[in-house]
Amino acid sequence: MSWIPELDQNGPLHRQLFNALEHDITCGLLAPGTKLPPQRKLADHVGLALGTVTKTYNRALKAGLLESRVGSGTFVRGVQTESSGPINMAINIPPASAFEGEMDFLRDSAASASDWLTTGPGYSSLAGVKLHREMLSALLAERNLRVLPEQVFPTIGAQQAIHMAVAVASRPGDVVLLEAATFTGISAAVKSQGRIPYPVALDGEGLIPAALREAIDKTNSSCLVTIPTGQNPTGVTQGLKRRQDIVGIARQHDVSIIEDDISGFLPPERPTLLATLAPERVFYVDSLSKSLWPNLRCGFLVCPPAFAGALENQMQGQIWSPPTLTFEIALNAWKRGTLKRLGLRIKDELSARAGFVAENLDIPLPAHAVFNLWVPMPSSQAAAIVDTARAKGLELTPASAPLVPDPEGRLLVEGLRLCIGSPKNRSEFEAGIGILKNIMSGSDVTPVI
Ligand SMILES: Cc1ncc(COP(=O)(O)O)c(C=O)c1O
Repeated sequence: MSWIPELDQNGPLHRQLFNALEHDITCGLLAPGTKLPPQRKLADHVGLALGTVTKTYNRALKAGLLESRVGSGTFVRGVQTESSGPINMAINIPPASAFEGEMDFLRDSAASASDWLTTGPGYSSLAGVKLHREMLSALLAERNLRVLPEQVFPTIGAQQAIHMAVAVASRPGDVVLLEAATFTGISAAVKSQGRIPYPVALDGEGLIPAALREAIDKTNSSCLVTIPTGQNPTGVTQGLKRRQDIVGIARQHDVSIIEDDISGFLPPERPTLLATLAPERVFYVDSLSKSLWPNLRCGFLVCPPAFAGALENQMQGQIWSPPTLTFEIALNAWKRGTLKRLGLRIKDELSARAGFVAENLDIPLPAHAVFNLWVPMPSSQAAAIVDTARAKGLELTPASAPLVPDPEGRLLVEGLRLCIGSPKNRSEFEAGIGILKNIMSGSDVTPVI
């Protein structure tokens, strides 16, 4: 089977199947040119009526996601425009234009790491290489998180750190509390390990403490995952009082917190970390994917001391020996000052892009640079905008991707995410916003089926 959809259990089945298809194509799980299973085979395999699959394939053909080749079947199309391809505002990556002027330093960082191919340790110890952990410990000290190098675990991206923290902080079958709209990778880490995601409502400052208390009372959950700074997808940042309230509730109910700080470098001043407020219960997660580049897959995890043994077991089972070559490149970039300068350039570029959005779209903007802007609106309207944008050459995040429905399928937050970092340069970005402006001014939005 070339595709096994994961349905989100939210809304009519044909919409669930369409959402899964749209998600998997946008995230690259289904590459352009992939042949989809014949409709009857897929219907039998996932236990859906043939009509449901037919309706979904037809909608996806109409939306330009698929193409039908006579006699051969149905294939993933990918979006095509008259010019150089789609404008991508569907994923969060640093704006490539921020790298101008730093490319030579980055190349040098990578070139000097090439000796590591033969001089590196082969397999490193479970904990990685001392120099790399010392760099991570120094980076964390700049954020007022004081940990010894041996308390920081290098991982393959923040994603693996989240996955392992979930594995250690909860058990299969447990409810894990998530922000009602969150990073899809967090939902995936929870669901793929047999945990049950449960949404906590958000306001303009992120997680609502009263809603968190209510969710804990209702579910008895002992694990919360939150993105306190530059939240994905809403862009909001929790203030100090909010952070203290959240930590206070977690302490009272003995809840572990997984703090995803991947956008922590974006505010002008580093906010106080949950991990600084409650080191005994917070798993701190970060990576260099947003402040340097995602290809490096340099993530890291700080774990509360009581969980260190369980984490080491996870490391052994999942990773054996942490990546070292990419950390060596990062170490060189750090020593050359590239890491710091790039972080500033990325912030400046994101702020300039947000300024352009402010001039062109009437949507709420966070107080500091963020990777993603959030436009609250009903999901059906967001889905229609995503479909129309795709047909016009602009790829947006599928409306349902970040949402965490409650057990009755209700959504506590709905909206459209705009990833402003991913267009390669300013002119591509402005063209994308232009497409969106036309759509949002109400001209032609494809009706949702
Ligand atoms: C909030 C958040 N956390 C974690 C990740 C995963 O990061 P990494 O590339 O380091 O695995 C992302 C990637 O988009 C993200 O947006």
